[in-house]
Amino acid sequence: MPLTIIILAAGQGTRMRSSLPKVLQPLAGRPLLSHVVATAHELAAEDVCVVFGHGGEAVPEAIGDDSLRWALQAEQLGTGHAVQQAMPETPDNNQALILFGDVPLLTADTLRRLLAETGSDELAVLSVDLDDPTGYGRILREGDGVVGIVEQKDADESQRAICEINTGVMVCAASRLRTWLDNLGNDNAQGEYYLTDVVAMAVTEGVAVRGVKAENWTEVMGINDKKQLAEAERALQARLVEELMAAGVGFADPARVDIRGKLECGQDVFIDVNAVFEGDVRLGDGVKVESNNVVCDSQLGAGTLVRPNCHIEGAATGDNCVIGPFARLRPGAELADEVRIGNFVEVKKSTIAAGSKINHLTYIGDAEIGTGVNVGAGTITCNYDGANKHKTTIGDHVFIGSGVELVAPVKIGEGATIGAGSTITKSAPDGELTIGRSKQVTIKGWRKPTKEK
Ligand code: UD1
Ligand code: CA
Repeated sequence: MPLTIIILAAGQGTRMRSSLPKVLQPLAGRPLLSHVVATAHELAAEDVCVVFGHGGEAVPEAIGDDSLRWALQAEQLGTGHAVQQAMPETPDNNQALILFGDVPLLTADTLRRLLAETGSDELAVLSVDLDDPTGYGRILREGDGVVGIVEQKDADESQRAICEINTGVMVCAASRLRTWLDNLGNDNAQGEYYLTDVVAMAVTEGVAVRGVKAENWTEVMGINDKKQLAEAERALQARLVEELMAAGVGFADPARVDIRGKLECGQDVFIDVNAVFEGDVRLGDGVKVESNNVVCDSQLGAGTLVRPNCHIEGAATGDNCVIGPFARLRPGAELADEVRIGNFVEVKKSTIAAGSKINHLTYIGDAEIGTGVNVGAGTITCNYDGANKHKTTIGDHVFIGSGVELVAPVKIGEGATIGAGSTITKSAPDGELTIGRSKQVTIKGWRKPTKEK
């Protein structure tokens, strides 16, 4: 049967106490809802519909996925009412799988198992056993089958003692679901149209209801407040790090690393404590990332060493580079092999060819630097005239002395040497020593100023 996945994401999430809608709260650097959408895509559904409401258009905009169908639930009248909003465009001969936008850790494997175990004419709910089921809908069973779900607020004492709870995930034929939803009432403690009431309707019609248990609780945990959000973050990080360790990546402490995006690693990569990876990051074979580093949307070539306390964003290095400690690579920093970027060096939108060294206290912006260049301490490419950016070009094997200002646009010829303390405003020729500074003078008899009374 073709599959429609309906993701409920219209609720406000009052307990987050945030101006950001709950389903947009970040988990591993992405909105909660994005995780659920990604899982839905893994199942290769014919149709994925997200029911949105609170937060309005901000939700579809933040998710930015053109393959999704969006159904507006203008007023949040309950989970049953929410699913109903998705039904008009859901084909009758599809199987409907309902997911919650605030249950982000559910895996495609568990959902595949749920789908595989559900007969085409059955209703199935995904449940889990909890030590403390407080707050959740309880699964009511008779013999093998499920006969109903009762919400915490509507449950009597014996029902509240049941530890098998409803995760909210449900699957059944769209045609049946449509009819049941049309017949829902809201005569309950919360005055809401409960999706869970369809279970009792199925039983009345003689449709078999199956309860499939999830294997672990973290996978199905619902996120309602910041505490649960932080718990989910840790659980997801542990999962991501475990996958990387299984693939051979070494971690000094698996609990002290954060991956907010996609981290791809070659062989023998080692990551020390407090490293944060954001966006798409690729680390080549043998890369070592030492402590306290932030690496976003960057690629580091094989054998590259990132020493402590660097910020690397939108950059790419070749093989065997050494970055830091305390270096900053900004977007467009492109380093070839064996480049060294030392402490308090900032590189922006610049290419640096193989073997060049920029080791101390330097700003390189909008520059093209050749191979085997040595840039002395305290060098600045003055790339900005207050209105426009200009380029600095430094040829192969140039030696730039310490404390040099290169006022762009400017070109330093191949093999040139620039004397320390120079302010270079005109291009310097190949192979020569160029110095651009005023002569040193001593003012004889000069006296220190004295303090006025
Ligand atoms: C729901 C279930 C409960 C289950 C629990 C699991 C019902 C009636 N109850 O309760 O059995 O144990 O989830 O976490 O289904 N939503 C909408 N529109 C609405 C209301 C909710 O889109 O009008 C969305 C929310 O954004 C959220 C999801 O549905 O993603 C669940 O809603 P929530 O109010 O959190 O339901 P619970 O009371 O937790
Ligand atoms: Ca909830």
